[in-house]
Amino acid sequence: MAIQDPFILLSLLLLLLLLISFISTLIYRTSTPQCTCKICHAYVTSTWSIHFTNLSDWYTHLLNKSPTKTIHIHVLNNLITSNHESVQYILKTRFQNYPKGKPFSLILGDFLGRGIFNVDGDSWRFQRKMACLELGNLSMRSHAFEVVNDEIDRRLVPVLSSFSKSSSQREGLDLDLQDVFRRFSFDVICKFSFGFDPRCLDVSLPVSDLAVAFDLASRLSAERAMNPSALVWRMKRVLNVGSERRLKEAIDTVDAFAGEVIRERNKLGSCSGHGDLLSRFMATTKDPEYLRDIIVSFMLAGRDTVASALTGLFWLLARHPQVVATIREEVAEVEALTSFDQIHEHHYLQAVVFEGMRLFPPIQFNSKFCLENDTFPDGTFVKKGTRVTYHPYAMGRMESIWGSDCLDFKPERWLKNGVFLQETPFKYPVFQAGYRMCLGKEMALVEIKSVVISLLQRFDIELATPVRTPRFSPGLTATFTGGLQVRVSERRGKT
Ligand code: HEM
Repeated sequence: MAIQDPFILLSLLLLLLLLISFISTLIYRTSTPQCTCKICHAYVTSTWSIHFTNLSDWYTHLLNKSPTKTIHIHVLNNLITSNHESVQYILKTRFQNYPKGKPFSLILGDFLGRGIFNVDGDSWRFQRKMACLELGNLSMRSHAFEVVNDEIDRRLVPVLSSFSKSSSQREGLDLDLQDVFRRFSFDVICKFSFGFDPRCLDVSLPVSDLAVAFDLASRLSAERAMNPSALVWRMKRVLNVGSERRLKEAIDTVDAFAGEVIRERNKLGSCSGHGDLLSRFMATTKDPEYLRDIIVSFMLAGRDTVASALTGLFWLLARHPQVVATIREEVAEVEALTSFDQIHEHHYLQAVVFEGMRLFPPIQFNSKFCLENDTFPDGTFVKKGTRVTYHPYAMGRMESIWGSDCLDFKPERWLKNGVFLQETPFKYPVFQAGYRMCLGKEMALVEIKSVVISLLQRFDIELATPVRTPRFSPGLTATFTGGLQVRVSERRGKT
């Protein structure tokens, strides 16, 4: 019998919501580790936010003070470390004991499926091998260089020009550079990996349903991990309500896009001449779900990370005109870059990019799960089943690693006699380190450096509203809340 009276329907709905909230609270209370220590109390009551802008800033403060550089948030059953010896232990020495683990693969499973970021064991090894072949390949490097520079010349530069003070149509309008970088890197990764151009970056800054859905899916998936108990989001998922309902809708939009890319590629057949990442995987499987997971993983890998690195870097550059002047001097003799390898010749620029990501790593923290009881080199006991997190954001701000000027933006710290010297990745795990180190590092560096060179040669960029400490939004990668609002002006004689 269908209920048609709207009053009864509304009452039933209210009753259902009350029931869900009651059961959620009950589950939360019974399944969350209870702890009243000072740190856990500050976490649960959010009182840390009285003194710190971001949760990561509070963790950095705690880790700086900790003698072992490791802290335990008991209510989350999470050990967080910024100790580089422990990082090496987790990512290399005892790699087998610290997989991504089931809890995370469940949390991210709906969005990332069985893609490389969300699997361990044979499935990970296979995808890593395939991606390695693709990203390490010489002709792929020159393809990446072409895709990046085409997107800069035909889209990025025209967009900034149209917003510049000298443009007759727009008298120096504020521009959200973070939004522009996300559009830019989305186009680049899609063109590079799947030979598909989503055309997100355009002078009209079109609304892209796909990009909006992708952001939402990424944010809501990350928020699942912030629940002290997984049962809360799982119940909402079963009932298809609230954030879980929105997550499902967002994932449906992303799935429809991936399905379209696969269908188009199937139509073209094997003689399409596409030698990209998707073709490599399609030659090994026809499973559309698996191919969808691969597409989503690479969109995530290549889009948000690069955009985040660029956003943090341009915020720093706007506050350090002397660094901008030195970059311009270094690249002055090169009018246009012509190859992937040539870009590594700029040592100062390389130092600037590494220094930018030291202070603003795109992936601020990364977690694994401990399989068997263990002890870190710093003496911390790690109980089986504990979530273990290394924290590149905090590590970039450790006095014990970088010295007392660790909060200053000083590219020179990476140079010895003008030559760039890399720090061990265990002290600087921005691209992770050990067996699962990022496979797109070279491509990311080419993208970031090409953008910096092109934009600094043509434009002066200043912050529209100078903020002292950026605030980050929750998500899988670091995102400035409110974007990065800038004013752009074209440099005379440089366009
Ligand atoms: C500044 C830009 C980037 C940063 C900071 C970065 C950082 C990272 C980090 C921290 C991981 C480890 C993630 C985890 O295991 O949970 C990772 C993995 C990975 N990255 Fe990147 N990444 C960047 C750009 C890229 C790009 C452009 C691509 C592809 C073209 C890419 C491809 C990958 C892949 C395939 C993995 C998985 C490696 C594995 O699990 O074996 N990354 N990256």
